[in-house]
Parts: sequence; structure tokens; C-alpha cells
Amino acid sequence: MFDYEKNKLLWNGLSVETLTHDVTHLLKSAHSYSGPFWLYQESILHDRVRLLEAELPGFHFYYSVKSQSNLTILSKMAEYARVGADVVSGGELFRALKAGFSAERIVFAGVGKSEEEIQAALQAKIRSFHVESISELRDIARLAALQNLVAPVSLRLNPDVEVDTHKHITTGKEENKFGLSDADFSEATKILKSTPSLALVGLQAHIGSQIFAHEPYVETARYLQKKADILRAALGKPVEYLSLGGGFGIDYKRTEGNAVDFPFAALLKEIRSVVDKNMELHFEPGRFISAPLCVLMSRVRHLKTRTGKIIAIIDAAMNDLIRPMLYEAYHPILPVEKRMGSAVYDIVGPVCESTDTFASQRTLTELAEDDWVAIGYAGAYGSAMSSNFNARVLLPAVVLTQEGKLSVIRKPQTFEQMIENEI
Ligand SMILES: Cc1ncc(COP(=O)(O)O)c(C=O)c1O
Repeated sequence: MFDYEKNKLLWNGLSVETLTHDVTHLLKSAHSYSGPFWLYQESILHDRVRLLEAELPGFHFYYSVKSQSNLTILSKMAEYARVGADVVSGGELFRALKAGFSAERIVFAGVGKSEEEIQAALQAKIRSFHVESISELRDIARLAALQNLVAPVSLRLNPDVEVDTHKHITTGKEENKFGLSDADFSEATKILKSTPSLALVGLQAHIGSQIFAHEPYVETARYLQKKADILRAALGKPVEYLSLGGGFGIDYKRTEGNAVDFPFAALLKEIRSVVDKNMELHFEPGRFISAPLCVLMSRVRHLKTRTGKIIAIIDAAMNDLIRPMLYEAYHPILPVEKRMGSAVYDIVGPVCESTDTFASQRTLTELAEDDWVAIGYAGAYGSAMSSNFNARVLLPAVVLTQEGKLSVIRKPQTFEQMIENEI
């Protein structure tokens, strides 16, 4: 994905120096803006989706909108018939519909859906609610009955499988806040049996993120199929689909290759043998599609020498990309120009928090003030988690389209826009 030619950074074969030059010119002339920005390559999006479609034939993908919810990006995703949207809020539902996903290609997850959100999704006639508690199941039943509707629901279950990932991104264990426990499952079965305003359509589990092995998914599929058999016996009707959630990992430390680090062939081989022949199978990939689409481009403002290291203060900050601070996440930091020599750097942002550190004690080729750096694999949980902390505006985003054009897909936020709802 990243490479150097004549000491200049290439991203997916393209010169980042040329792209940066063209983008800065575009942002300056169209928006009087000069600062950090998100840079996307549309072709990577198509490569990722086509790769999933080829590696997992017959499967459906409900793209996890929370990982990256820009309208242009979503609308490109919506062009694929086998791709739907997995949303977790009324705002994401709104975005997915605006971007062109038909309602029957939208599923709605989340542990605390509000009444307004449930009503909006009922009105829109989405494919299914992924239900995370008994209390929520009752709420959906009540709200659907009030509107004389039948709500399509799927049960999010906790298979209690072990995945080898960071403690902040495991979700399929009994102790997590997500999904229904075994006791809840029995209760949910009774409710489904006796409530005409509910129709069961699927079963779902999401076991975590940054998963690099196929076995936990196979185990989860086996678990869900067993539960589907119990439900068929109880309700006299088979479920339409099993959804195995998202989680396909990206090795952020590996900058070479195509950022595919998951054994899809092994998954495909084993998974079909544990589920019914006609069962529709879903995944909800987020990061796998969106992480490699984007780099965060930032410039070195100041260098300070400290014992044993240099502190490089760049112009992007934790309000733009919070993953390193929130999850101790690693992102590659790639100087656009590779200079001679190297040094040990702390790469920090300008926000008034010590935790505003993108990398500690990282050995990089020498940096000079005003150098551009690309923070790689920044597309997932990057701009989607940005905030106005320190009254810093939200950054512009630019995409290199399939036609080779640069298009601004999110304008830089202005100070006026930042305060427009404040009184
Ligand atoms: C229910 C559900 N599906 C899908 C995803 C997407 O996960 P990832 O981006 O790791 O693929 C998440 C992420 O938290 C999730 O909670």
C-alpha cells in the first residue's frame, strides 16, 4: 500500500507529493484553506468491496457506517447490490438513506436506540432491528403495535467466544454490554412467540474488532445456527439470515502489500459446513473497507529537542484522529520525503492534553519543519470520531475519484459553522 521511489512516498502507486501539491492548491483556491486534510482514493474502496465479493461468494455485506460515514463514500458503497448498511443511530440511518441505500438494505444495531430512532426505522421499513436487550425488544413491539406495523427483528447474541484483540474492542463476551445472554434468549423466544407485532428475521453476533483468524467466526456461525434451530422449533419458521458481524483486521504495522491480513479462503471453506444450506450469511465489515481508503495529511510545525528524542509538533491533533489516544492504536507515520538519516520522535498534536500523541519514541527518517507526513490507514474511526475539542474545526476531506479528479467531499468547517447552533 505504501512504498518509496526515489525517496518520495507512493500510496497505492501514486505520488503523495503530487497529490498533496494538487490538494493544497485546490483547498487554497476553492476554500482559502491551508492546513491538514483527509485524503481518500476511491479506487481502493472499489478494490476492497470487490475483494470481499470475490473471496466470499454468496455472502452479503452490511457496511459498518460508524467506521466512516461520509455521504460520498457511502454513496459509492451503495452502488454494490451485495452491500447494505449497518447503522447504529438515527443519524446514521438518515445518512445511509440519503446516500442511496434502500431501506431493505439497512440493519439497525446499538444497545440504546431511542423511541424516535425506532419509530424512524419502522417508518422507513428497514430490513431488521438488531435487538440487544429484552427491554428493547418490548419497546420495539410496543412502538410497532401503536403504528399497526410488524417490526422485523434479529437477536444479537453473545456467543462468548474468545478473540485475541485489544480489551477495548472485544464485544462478544458474556460480560460485555452488547447483545442478549442465554437467559435473555429464552425470554426473547417467548416474547417472539406471543407478540404479533414482531417478526424474527435473523440472528447476529459481533465478536470484536481486529480479528485475524477465521476460527472465531466459524465457532460463532456454529453457535448461531444452533440457536436458529431452537427458534425454528419454537416458532415454526426458519430465520432468514445469520450475521457474523464485522471485525476483519488490518495490520496497521504492515505498510507493504494490499492490507489484506485475513484468511478468507479458510473461512469460506469451513463456514458453509456449519450452517444450513440456504441460510443467508452476512458480515458487517467496517475497518476492513474504510481504513485503507484514507490518509491524514499533516505538516510538521515545530521540532523540539529533548534528551534521547525529538518532539515533532504536527498540525493535526487528537480531535481529528483519536484512535492512538483512545485505544493505544498504532498508525504508520510516513514522511512524504524520505531524508537521509533517522531519529527517534514523539509525534504530537497541538491540543492542550499530554495524551495528544500520535506516536511515542518512534524511529523515523529525519523530519524538518514544514515537511508533510501521511498518517496511514486513517479511514476507519478517523474523521468519523473527530470533534471540535480545543475549538478546532473539522478538517476537509478530498477524494481522488475514479476519473482521476480531485473532489472535495467535505468542505473545511468554518468558525461560523462551528458556533452556529450556540446562543
Ligand atoms: C455490531 C457491529 N458490527 C460491525 C462493526 C464493525 O467492526 P469493524 O470495523 O471492526 O469491521 C462493529 C464495530 O464495532 C459493530 O459493533
